[in-house]
Amino acid sequence: MSVWAVLAAAGSGERLGADRPKAFVRLGDQPLLAESLARLEASEWIDAIVVAAPPGWEEPAILLAEELGCGKVSACVAGGDTRADSVRLGVAEVPPDAAVVLVHDAARPLLDDAVVERVVAALGDGWDGAVPALPIPDTVKRVEGERIVETLQRDELRVVQTPQAFVADVLRGVLAGSDWTDCSAAVEAAGGRVRVVDGDPRLLKITDAADLDRVAALL
Ligand code: CTP
Ligand code: MG
Repeated sequence: MSVWAVLAAAGSGERLGADRPKAFVRLGDQPLLAESLARLEASEWIDAIVVAAPPGWEEPAILLAEELGCGKVSACVAGGDTRADSVRLGVAEVPPDAAVVLVHDAARPLLDDAVVERVVAALGDGWDGAVPALPIPDTVKRVEGERIVETLQRDELRVVQTPQAFVADVLRGVLAGSDWTDCSAAVEAAGGRVRVVDGDPRLLKITDAADLDRVAALL
């Protein structure tokens, strides 16, 4: 059974506001992309990696992979306008015989191998996908403008992270759809069965400069 990772790293990082795409902003003494790339390379669960790089940054991404000795990197493609487009372009490089595709965001650098194991091992038994999720500590309200219209049932809610693992054929079959924010949504919309497994509080997503400081402190 071969497991291919697609690393979505093609975003511009507008909210971070750096002078370069988010994947190439410094985290510690390396570009942010290096952290998740090296961790996927080191994972025994992952056989091969496709990187979706910011358009124009494919060459630096390949050089970085070489510097890190990432022999599993099989392709590095230019990403698209949206995350969904970048994932589509990355998955297009995954060969037909791959059994599982694991999609991960470079914006979540602190990838623990235990999470990779949880999502990959959760497939089978009729599950089409598996995503790491965390419970929500706060009470969550639905609002319309300034007015609260509903208090949601907190124990039914989860925040989800990446990496998300999918049966390769299932993921390929749903990717053509509209602009979903995570791959799970595309599989869910097609009626697929997606399982939640325990997420990891350290798997923070870097959106703005404060997130970058927070993650750097956890390195
Ligand atoms: N991503 C991507 N291609 C895009 C947009 C996003 O591969 N066209 C990736 C990002 O590189 C990131 C992940 O999807 O790893 C989550 O996206 P986000 O955190 O929104 O990153 P950016 O889009 O780069 O940030 P911003 O929205 O602030 O511009
Ligand atoms: Mg974005």
